Amino acid sequence: MNKTVEILPDQSALVARALELILSELETAIEQRGRFTIALSGGSTPKPLYEAIASQKLPWDKIHVFWGDERFVPPDHPDSNELMSRRAWLDRIDIPAANIHAVPTLEAEPGLAAAKYEQHLQDFFKSSPGEFPSLDVILLGMGDDAHTASLFPHTEALKVRDRLITVGNKDGNPRITFTYPFINSAGSVIFLVAGANKRPALAQVFAPVADDFTYPSRLIQPQGKLCWLLDAAAGLELQP
Ligand code: 6PG
Repeated sequence: MNKTVEILPDQSALVARALELILSELETAIEQRGRFTIALSGGSTPKPLYEAIASQKLPWDKIHVFWGDERFVPPDHPDSNELMSRRAWLDRIDIPAANIHAVPTLEAEPGLAAAKYEQHLQDFFKSSPGEFPSLDVILLGMGDDAHTASLFPHTEALKVRDRLITVGNKDGNPRITFTYPFINSAGSVIFLVAGANKRPALAQVFAPVADDFTYPSRLIQPQGKLCWLLDAAAGLELQP
């Protein structure tokens, strides 16, 4: 694992740096494999990043977008990560509909949605059950409880190691989420974390010893690159 931590002065600098990293990975992926695969995170931090990506002139037909986690709500629900990403980015560019790999949240229940999304990923990557295909980039946020994606502290989702997708749970509300082994199979994982409220969780995530099930972001140890992009407010106590 190639882990880096960058502390940026503010959120706009954090977005600019994230865009730079993504564009670099995108160029390499398209050069080497003819396509670029990225999984998006939800929440509020990445929204300006998605708006910035939308303003780029890119080979959209070679770009495939997935979601690392999604609330189990219809795609037109205000809590939907897909809706936020479409409004900020995907509905503002000319990307083939087939390149937008949304989580099937209209399934009757979360378990079916998770199974269907897993099958879709396996079909796309032509991988077999038990194999963990590698997305080029997975974007992650981190909550002030150190959750990432929809891998919340002390939940069953943290124990799932043989699937790509599982059902997360936030206060009784189901989520569809990448499992941490699937996240760890990515070529590059980029965390975007902003705000002083994230400091206590970051201190635990970066501590030499702490409980992974209490601070799930500690589980993200990808074989490839791991880059933590923090704004100054979040990264204050981590300044070298
Ligand atoms: C979600 C996200 C979640 C998010 C963190 C941080 O669906 O909510 O994927 O993991 O990244 O909660 O959210 P903020 O960026 O809003 O602090």
